Amino acid sequence: MNKTPVTVINHPLVQHKLTLMRMESTPTAEFRRLLREVSMLLAYEVTRDIPLAMVDIQTPIQKMRAPLIDGKKIVLVSILRAGNGILEGMLELLPSARVGHIGLYRDPQTLTPVEYYFKMPPDMSQRDVIVVDPMLATGNSAAAALSRLKDLKPLSIKFVCLIASPEGVDLLSSEHPDVPIYTASVDEKLNEHGYIVPGLGDAGDRIYGTK
Ligand code: URA
Repeated sequence: MNKTPVTVINHPLVQHKLTLMRMESTPTAEFRRLLREVSMLLAYEVTRDIPLAMVDIQTPIQKMRAPLIDGKKIVLVSILRAGNGILEGMLELLPSARVGHIGLYRDPQTLTPVEYYFKMPPDMSQRDVIVVDPMLATGNSAAAALSRLKDLKPLSIKFVCLIASPEGVDLLSSEHPDVPIYTASVDEKLNEHGYIVPGLGDAGDRIYGTK
């Protein structure tokens, strides 16, 4: 069976900022600022192979053909609510990208993800999708989000998170082996509450100061 390619972005700047984010003592404003910065660095890595189109331009000296990204072809899809933290930073580097949102909650009886919000730009079949969620924990929400997006037949899909669990990577590998994962770390394990260990706690709470 094919395994999902997992790219661990171990650039020192990413690792340094991730360590600061993990610290319990890091306050909300600082956490948010670090997430914005790390997200820009993750965007740099995940867009390494996006296509460039040659255009005719005029420099102050002469005409030339030069490469440009068609930013509008890229859709950043945030898995609510913590995905919005990564989205903000990525949009700074990809200001023309389109944005989609997916909201999922876990049914307390069946423990399966239930969709409560889904809004995408039009013409998804002509776009490259980057799905963002800081924590790939059980992988259930990410897998459901990817299945839903695949129905729209985008040109490509990549998944970006800050921290992944081995369990989450395994689930995405078995359900979506065609979707590459980009992460700053694959941590040790999930605990009995579904939190990543050692992780950084609840990413949504830490971004929005809700706890
Ligand atoms: N979601 C989080 O925000 N943190 C975890 O550790 C797991 C899921």
